[in-house]
Amino acid sequence: MSLHTQLGRVSHLGYRVESFLAEDAAVAVLSTLPFSDGKCLFLASGSEVVELGVQIARGLTAKPLLLSLADSYLAAYGSAAKRDLSEWHLFDWRGCANCSRAADCSEECPRVRDVPFDRIGGFVFEPGNAGGTVRLPPRGLIQTLERSVRASEGLVVVDEVTTGFGRTGLWYGFEHYGISPDLVALGKGLGNGYPVSCLAMTRAIGARLEKERFHYAQSHQDNPLGCVVAKTVIDTLRRERLMERGARTGEVLLDGLRSVARSRDAVTDVRGRGLMIVLEVDGAGKKDVVTPLFRKLLDRGFLVGCKPAAGLLRFYPPLVISEDDVDGLLTALGEVLEDEA
Ligand SMILES: Cc1ncc(COP(=O)(O)O)c(C=O)c1O
Repeated sequence: MSLHTQLGRVSHLGYRVESFLAEDAAVAVLSTLPFSDGKCLFLASGSEVVELGVQIARGLTAKPLLLSLADSYLAAYGSAAKRDLSEWHLFDWRGCANCSRAADCSEECPRVRDVPFDRIGGFVFEPGNAGGTVRLPPRGLIQTLERSVRASEGLVVVDEVTTGFGRTGLWYGFEHYGISPDLVALGKGLGNGYPVSCLAMTRAIGARLEKERFHYAQSHQDNPLGCVVAKTVIDTLRRERLMERGARTGEVLLDGLRSVARSRDAVTDVRGRGLMIVLEVDGAGKKDVVTPLFRKLLDRGFLVGCKPAAGLLRFYPPLVISEDDVDGLLTALGEVLEDEA
């Protein structure tokens, strides 16, 4: 069903009204996750579902702290945005990035041993976007943290607001880590531009919430339009094999950016996964070297992301980008880097 069709029917329902549209959207979302018998709640923004996941982890475990990686961006407001140290333990994994013992990452490592797992009710993991700078934490570390959190009965909440729906070449960013979340927060790509988000959870978590009589209500919960959009997006991604397409194009773009970078001293790094890629330009922190590149690319018809403070150009194109457009972008980027040299 299309958004237009649904607009002519019911566009809003109170949260107490059950709707088959929410059921259909939940079935679609759960078909993309490892727990197809789970439960879903639909809201409007990524921040809302992350914050709800945080509230649930706190409510069900009654422990004072949650764990997250220090460089993660989780939400625009609430506990997940503020990450006050009285409520959060922030794990600084910079030292783990090039760890010579990464393959043997374990609870024995002093960095992990320092984490107060007995006081931690959950690990809120954002798999790689690191606030738009694309930082991909090591797989062994994430598995060690997951194991340790579970050993003290904590939950795993994954924030897939940016990394979900094929952005990293798979349905979800957590799939690159071989972990099993209890709750998954979804946004952005779920609506393909329309404001709908979803918190998906295992059946066991749903049952615990019912038993504990956990209460949460918002005006636009399970909004009919949002639910129709979410289901349509998932059906389209699957029918048109867009994830596979995005994964292939991501490899072409990453290789292409690396070869453009090879002959340019100004480029200090190119990193990414799927169609979530950044190119880092050395401005030595003094000068904004990125905005002129961004503007010149825009003049040539290419709208990319940029993060001047981090010296980054960001490439997060839609999964449908064509290889011709990728070629054009690489040519334009080579030219503008030449101009600025
Ligand atoms: C990883 C991550 N989590 C949560 C959010 C918040 O989502 P929203 O802006 O839809 O509230 C964002 C937004 O950029 C994000 O990148």
